[in-house]
Amino acid sequence: MRKKKRRLKKKVYLFVFLIVCGFILLCSILFYKVKPSFKKRLNNLGYNSKEVSIIMENVPKRNYKFIKKYNKDLVNLIKSKDYKDSNFKKYFDYYEKNSNSDINDIITIVNSGYDFMKYTASSLLADLVKEKYFIYDNTSRYLDYGNSHDYNSKKIVAIVNSNADKTFYSDTKSSNLNDDNLVLVNKFNHLSDNYVPTDLVALSSKYNSGANNKMRKEAADKFMEMVDGALLDNIILKNASAYRSYNYQVNLYNSYVQRDGKEKADIYSARPGYSEHQTGLCTDINTINSSFANTKEAKWLSENAYKYGFILRFPKGKEDITGYKYESWHYRYVGKKVSKIIYENDITLEEYYAYYMEKHTS
Ligand code: DAL
Ligand code: ZN
Repeated sequence: MRKKKRRLKKKVYLFVFLIVCGFILLCSILFYKVKPSFKKRLNNLGYNSKEVSIIMENVPKRNYKFIKKYNKDLVNLIKSKDYKDSNFKKYFDYYEKNSNSDINDIITIVNSGYDFMKYTASSLLADLVKEKYFIYDNTSRYLDYGNSHDYNSKKIVAIVNSNADKTFYSDTKSSNLNDDNLVLVNKFNHLSDNYVPTDLVALSSKYNSGANNKMRKEAADKFMEMVDGALLDNIILKNASAYRSYNYQVNLYNSYVQRDGKEKADIYSARPGYSEHQTGLCTDINTINSSFANTKEAKWLSENAYKYGFILRFPKGKEDITGYKYESWHYRYVGKKVSKIIYENDITLEEYYAYYMEKHTS
């Protein structure tokens, strides 16, 4: 009886052993079958033996299923330093629609992480997505503007983000007063005729030489700090024109229009409601004249104002963005944190506003 049981046990063990061996054998056969069949499939699709070995060396198995057609750029794709395994399907889908485009542009565009299926691949688009201040929602406008202007992608992004691809004084809206120190007043954003800041303070003669001597409290405090700081470097700064009321700007602008005509006046003077001077956050320093640009005071300001929270509001080379000619004397208070970003990235308040405020709150 016992012998019989033992024999039975042995038989069961043997049976299990054979099943396991059979299973392992089956798996091995299947495993070795998959490889050659993929290789064969690649051959059938038209890949030559060199291409096949590169593909098999570089493409992980999970991506085999996406290779459904002959793709003359596949080898270049997987050999590119920017190629990412995880984007494999996306490269294929995008390539399908853009098979005549440069494969490196396709890689760059796909790697950006945005969905560009509805946009044709191009070197312009590839350049645009690499820009630090690229905003996806502006893509069509970047492309339209870039295709009609001979500018680099950085400038295209800056202009469109600032709305300056549109006609100045078109499509205008009220400035958002909740932005406080960062309120944007320019040729697209305006203040109402009755807006007067509630915390204006007058600068004393140590800090002022003009009739418009008021600034908002925090801006005035920082301006005085800056003037005192400059004095330590033997630089004398004084406000020449700070807060200006709506009505003051009416008279100022009209006088310029009478003198130079509207087109010229618009290049250096804001229309009423569109002047930053109505915010009480800016100051024209020392000399309101282009000769100021060459003074040591202007140089000191351009290098140090940001440390006190001020920015040069209408810089040289940014006329297309701000809509105004270079004003070496016009400084705007935005607070230290923002002035540092604007200074270090060499951007305007328009560019800052579009990327850091509108984009991140919409
Ligand atoms: N000069 C500047 C642009 C103004 O009028 O506000
Ligand atoms: Zn000014």
